[in-house]
Amino acid sequence: MTETVLLDRTDRVAVVTVNRPDKLNALNAQVQRDLFTVLKELESDAGVGVVVITGAGDKSFIAGADISEFAGRSPLDQRQAMRFPRMFDVLSDFPKPVIAMINGFCLGGGCELAMSCDLRIASDRARFGQPEIKLGLIPGGGGTQRLPRLVGLGQAMRLTLTGDMIGAEEALRLGLVEMVFPHDELRDKTFELAGRIAGMSPVTLRLAKEAVRASEKLPLGEGIVYERDLFCLAFSTEDKAEGVEAFLAKRPPEWRGR
Ligand code: COA
Repeated sequence: MTETVLLDRTDRVAVVTVNRPDKLNALNAQVQRDLFTVLKELESDAGVGVVVITGAGDKSFIAGADISEFAGRSPLDQRQAMRFPRMFDVLSDFPKPVIAMINGFCLGGGCELAMSCDLRIASDRARFGQPEIKLGLIPGGGGTQRLPRLVGLGQAMRLTLTGDMIGAEEALRLGLVEMVFPHDELRDKTFELAGRIAGMSPVTLRLAKEAVRASEKLPLGEGIVYERDLFCLAFSTEDKAEGVEAFLAKRPPEWRGR
């Protein structure tokens, strides 16, 4: 628990809530520091299999970077504020699956944060966009790179050049989110999915995430070789032995996380 980020744990699912509802959970420097702190804790917590990120209140997931921090900032100050490691990269490289539970406005840095997660599950009331162009800016949290990878070059260009907002159904159709549920069911549906994923072997989840993430960086041939190596690495785990043995014995597996 930190000043601006709440942390709850249910079984093996941790819920990280950005808690500035009066500012629609805009990402200021404190939120970013607090997210780093909480993620660091969750990374080493063996009791946590899956992380869910959401926004406090009923209206917004994250309405972007805190625009008030941009006023009067020099390029050097901004560069310092954007120093590496960036939170977006920490999320995409996080060694456990991370799910964005998108409960409302998902704009600018909020959309970029959601795109850095492994899965995006949205309320039917959620609204999406990269409105930076309207501020005389461009996306700076990976949006110009991750958005085209999810929705294709043309749609990414449309959203980036117009700053237009789209609704959840359109986001689903474009591939910006993977699932949409009625607002009141969002939490239960997300937890059901997160719980099922958290019930898999953590060591295998890590290999699976790493292999799929590699597809963002590697050409196909190299990616196939990398996948083969991670597949064979899975043969070194106790959970591979258990999974195969349990299947053959027609019983559920008991993962050991090794
Ligand atoms: N940064 C800082 N404050 C923000 C914010 C942001 N990105 N988004 C919302 N807020 C604040 C508002 O200034 C307002 O604060 P106040 O009550 O102290 O005036 C509060 O959150 C509520 O927002 P409000 O604009 O009154 O809600 P709304 O329902 O009328 O509009 C939005 C919602 C999302 C359309 C509108 O807030 C908005 O356009 N936000 C900016 C989105 C953006 O450009 N993000 C990218 C930043 S790079």
